[in-house]
Amino acid sequence: MNEPDVTQTALTPASILLTGQVALITGGGAGIGRGIAMAFAAFGADVALLDVNAEAAELVAGLVRGKGRRAMVITADVTDRAALRAGIDRVMAEFGRLDILVNNAGGTRPLALLDTSDRQLDRRIDLNLTSLFTATQAAAKAMIAGGRGGAIINIASIEGLRAAPMHSVYAAAKAGMVNLTRTAALELGEHGIRVNCIAPDVVLTEAMVKANPRSLTPEFKRVHAGYLPLGRAGNFDDCAGAAVFLASAMSAYVTGVTINVDGGTWASSGWTKDKDGKWRLFANDFDV
Ligand SMILES: NC(=O)c1ccc[n+]([C@@H]2O[C@H](COP(=O)([O-])OP(=O)(O)OC[C@H]3O[C@@H](n4cnc5c(N)ncnc54)[C@H](O)[C@@H]3O)[C@@H](O)[C@H]2O)c1
Repeated sequence: MNEPDVTQTALTPASILLTGQVALITGGGAGIGRGIAMAFAAFGADVALLDVNAEAAELVAGLVRGKGRRAMVITADVTDRAALRAGIDRVMAEFGRLDILVNNAGGTRPLALLDTSDRQLDRRIDLNLTSLFTATQAAAKAMIAGGRGGAIINIASIEGLRAAPMHSVYAAAKAGMVNLTRTAALELGEHGIRVNCIAPDVVLTEAMVKANPRSLTPEFKRVHAGYLPLGRAGNFDDCAGAAVFLASAMSAYVTGVTINVDGGTWASSGWTKDKDGKWRLFANDFDV
């Protein structure tokens, strides 16, 4: 056997490109999904956007086409399993292949465990976990039929890794997402399909800012600087950067992992910095 040539690397700047690939992004009409769609197009992929909001998705499709890539809008709710499967069939019929699936549609509202109705429980699980299973299964079948492997990227949350008061079902669903990612990575690895997660903490999307207009104020920025080690809230490009990496050949040997795109919250694990720049543990008053 020949010795490997240790003076050469097979990696080039082109290794990060997605040229010629087709990506499907659920919830691609806004926020993190829209950011990923724009980044994928900038790195060469054609993009299908599956969203309940057709108007928003059409605007993103326009941005993708503006980057010289093909775009397709599928108006569907990810909790409608038949519509989700039909959406994946449409991508195959119109674009002829599927290389990347981003399970991004999801979300929640604060709700106490004791107040959660059966309906609210089912809705949160359907949106944040069941849809991921259905889309992963259907997309993996399409990728296997294509014979080129693929990349599946799940947008979980840091709340899937820690407790989240007032978000019990959401956090449990996101934790399920993180573990489904691992099992799917094992079962799909032999087909060249890599499955990974991104776990953001706070990402200031328009919806977040609309729900809390104070989030852009200097006062709120100070709050973020206190508990986020990188000193600021996240943005869609922070997530898109991780998604491009996980979609591209740069991560050819990465599967079953969760990348925390959280500005360091997971590492800080209770440590915060007060307004005088002093480190405190669990907002306690003792000095360190
Ligand atoms: N924004 C954050 O701070 C944050 C933090 C951690 C995790 N996340 C996760 O990131 C993902 C995206 O969040 P975001 O903040 O960008 O959301 P967003 O509200 O800004 O955008 C969500 C998009 O998904 C679409 N959508 C919503 N429900 C849908 C459904 N049932 N079927 C199809 N499309 C649907 C919406 O129309 C919208 O275009 C979610 O899974 C969320 O849980 C977000």
